[in-house]
Amino acid sequence: MRAVLLAHPAGHSLSPVLQNAAFEAAGLDVTYEAWDVPPERLAATVAALRDDRSVLGANVTVPHKRTVMATLDGLDPDARAIGAVNVLRRTEAGLVGGNSDGAGFLRSLAEAGLDPAGRSVLLVGAGGAARAVGWSLAARGVASLSVANRTFETAEDLVAAWRQSFPKLRPRAVPTDELGEAVAVSDVVVNATSVGMERGGVDPDESPLPASAWAGGPDRWAVDLVYRPRVPRFLRDADAAGLRTIGGLGMLLHQGAVAFEAWTGRPAPVAEMRAALHAALAGDPPDALRDRPSERDRP
Ligand code: ATR
Repeated sequence: MRAVLLAHPAGHSLSPVLQNAAFEAAGLDVTYEAWDVPPERLAATVAALRDDRSVLGANVTVPHKRTVMATLDGLDPDARAIGAVNVLRRTEAGLVGGNSDGAGFLRSLAEAGLDPAGRSVLLVGAGGAARAVGWSLAARGVASLSVANRTFETAEDLVAAWRQSFPKLRPRAVPTDELGEAVAVSDVVVNATSVGMERGGVDPDESPLPASAWAGGPDRWAVDLVYRPRVPRFLRDADAAGLRTIGGLGMLLHQGAVAFEAWTGRPAPVAEMRAALHAALAGDPPDALRDRPSERDRP
């Protein structure tokens, strides 16, 4: 059997490393392949997958996460609400699209000891990643949800959509001149922008927030979806101010685990998947503080 990633370009993904380790550890004869699918070939590729019974399931990534929705036979409710699909699974009804980013994000928080239910959260960024993360936080029952973004109108559009789904939460967009105050009153600040991500192998040493915005306090958290570098500037600043920090590797791992479970109906071999990711990123500087094995992974 095969599982595939639909991407364009396909070269940079860590999903083959993650999923091939998972299938091997589970003793399943499945090979995971990354396919470079340009946008004009997406619909035909999905149609071919539907007919090819040797394909167990698929991941979908940039730039297809939204456009793939129109080519499918069904959508999970959360994928429909988020407005993005990153997992395809085969059902009686055909190919159904799901979203494992939000669930993977919540698992990564849980593993680090953070339950966002009842917390005040500030989400920085309003792109595709922020969509999935914000929706999962709202669904988990955060006390408040604010969104700050370089382009304010995009944050406004996002919270307007969430207001329909979560009327009691009353999520709000934060204007730039209120950002400092929004950080100060939040229990959890999440970076869902691409700022701080390594470029050409170099840590850009950039954060979407000024270092002066951070103030410590008991049980305050900074969460970054960036995993390269392992500790981006956003987390370094937060750590220096006394906040607890969670990096992006956990979300990468757990969105893959949720996808594996959707395809196979089995619990994901998380320890082996984590080890494969660490091996693939072995050349990167280590993050000794934060890559603690979870309770579940301990022998
Ligand atoms: P992804 O799918 O990874 O979320 P995306 O949809 O392109 O990628 O979204 C990128 C996010 O990072 C957006 O919130 C973007 O802000 P804009 O809506 O203003 O474009 C944010 N972003 C990217 N580069 C940025 C920068 N240099 N400063 C601030 N925000 C930035």
